[in-house]
Amino acid sequence: MSKLRSAMHRSKRAGQEVIETAKPKHKRTKTTSKEEETTQAASPSTYHTFPAPADVVLLRSQLLNWYNKEKRELPWRTLAVTEPDLNIRTYAVWVSEIMLQQTQVATVKDYYNKWMKRWPTVQDLATATLEEVNQMWAGLGYYSRGKRLHEGAQKVVTELKGQMPRTVDSLLKQLPGVGRYTAAAIGSIALGQVTGAVDGNVIRVLCRLRAIGADSTSPAVTEALWGLANTLVDPERPGDFNQAMMELGARVCTPKGPVCSQCPVQSHCHSYRKVHVKQEQNSKKLLLKLEKKTSTLPDIEDCMTSGTCLLCPSEPWDDELGVQNFPRKPAKKPPRVERTLTCVVVRPGEDGEDEYLLTQRPDKGLLAGLWEFPSLLLEEENSEMKQKRELSAEISRILGTHLTESLFQYIGEVVHIFSHIHQTYVVHSMRLRDDAQTKTENVQWLTRASLQEAAVSTGMKKIVKLYDTLDSQKEKPSKDGKKQNATGTKNDKKPPTSKKPKLSAANSRGRQLSLSSFFRTVKEES
Ligand code: ADE
Repeated sequence: MSKLRSAMHRSKRAGQEVIETAKPKHKRTKTTSKEEETTQAASPSTYHTFPAPADVVLLRSQLLNWYNKEKRELPWRTLAVTEPDLNIRTYAVWVSEIMLQQTQVATVKDYYNKWMKRWPTVQDLATATLEEVNQMWAGLGYYSRGKRLHEGAQKVVTELKGQMPRTVDSLLKQLPGVGRYTAAAIGSIALGQVTGAVDGNVIRVLCRLRAIGADSTSPAVTEALWGLANTLVDPERPGDFNQAMMELGARVCTPKGPVCSQCPVQSHCHSYRKVHVKQEQNSKKLLLKLEKKTSTLPDIEDCMTSGTCLLCPSEPWDDELGVQNFPRKPAKKPPRVERTLTCVVVRPGEDGEDEYLLTQRPDKGLLAGLWEFPSLLLEEENSEMKQKRELSAEISRILGTHLTESLFQYIGEVVHIFSHIHQTYVVHSMRLRDDAQTKTENVQWLTRASLQEAAVSTGMKKIVKLYDTLDSQKEKPSKDGKKQNATGTKNDKKPPTSKKPKLSAANSRGRQLSLSSFFRTVKEES
């Protein structure tokens, strides 16, 4: 038996073992005992598995044939096939998988190409600075991913003699930011290890194929899905098989508007079949005016233990949703709502070019180590005036001078949505007359060109855009004195909290002011 094959058998067994030991978080029915749950988790009904080896073989070949024809040419896929050096190949796939966590393929492509051009080997990445990594990552979001890649590269060089880990287990153990899915993806794609890999797309495909409708984040469903993935993975082409499953989820078995007519594995899909059985039942019901009771009898092909099954949906089938009845996720918590006071501080640089003041965020937490315009998280219990005073005091401290909040010019608001925070930046600007010096660390003045290249978040880039919109209108305010909208920004409304400084585009007598008058030199001497 080849190494890969024996690995497959091991991994299949492993999948089984995990199912046996899975501890479900929630009981599905009040009457289900702990013992019953364990039994359920140990052996899910065959309705939710692939018990017939012939079906598995058929599904593999259908999926891989489709993938051979339909797959997108992606730079990491090309490298995984053409790069002969195992170390470089593993590194290249690792980078791609980290970038692809939470980010769409289309966005990742450019970032990936630039990254691999700059740091083609793990050794190259290890010699980079975190600042360079953050700069390269700017705009991709979830910045801790870049930081972990960098830490991982340094670890490989200093602790692992420059050798990338060679097994799924060691990838998982040795590399920061690499979890169960990522280790399995790198292992199968770069190293030919025979293991399934379950990411969000694969969860959807498998849940639909086997009508798994219980909470897809529950331990019982998670383990069942890994068991399925390990059973299905093609022992000869594990990396292609896993990527084909992802590709199917991304392009055919999509969250909304799945294209079942183009699905190469439609004949295995319980959800697809269910849609048609239900449609038939409904039309019969309509024709024969059957009683509801008759039509709700379980379909002969349904899960036979659905009353207690840990993988069956707890909610009734919704005809409108079709195959989108699967998978089910618990409702998302609404994002936290935050408002942040921000000030774009501008000074004339040496050759007359404007320069912008940036401060660095702490090296832990949200947007760690990135640069931003001086900002202050607004607290509802404090008045806006007080918080402006606080921010201007902070800017004064940075510049070693004394500035007051009255110098803030309101420009507008920028909304940026993080995965768990709905952030509104309340943006002001302040233009300084002379070339104010900075007195503290983690602060820098950047020209516009350097700002474009710097490690700043997308939220800050939106603020620059808003600032530019205003700047370009300086000499030509619109007739109603309102500033115009920019994408993702609004500057045609008053600031939302009650006590606002009177900084609209008209003075107190209602006379129109030139916007350039807002940008007069406003520095106060200390
Ligand atoms: N998502 C995660 N890994 C992927 C890959 N290798 N190809 C396409 N999408 C992916």
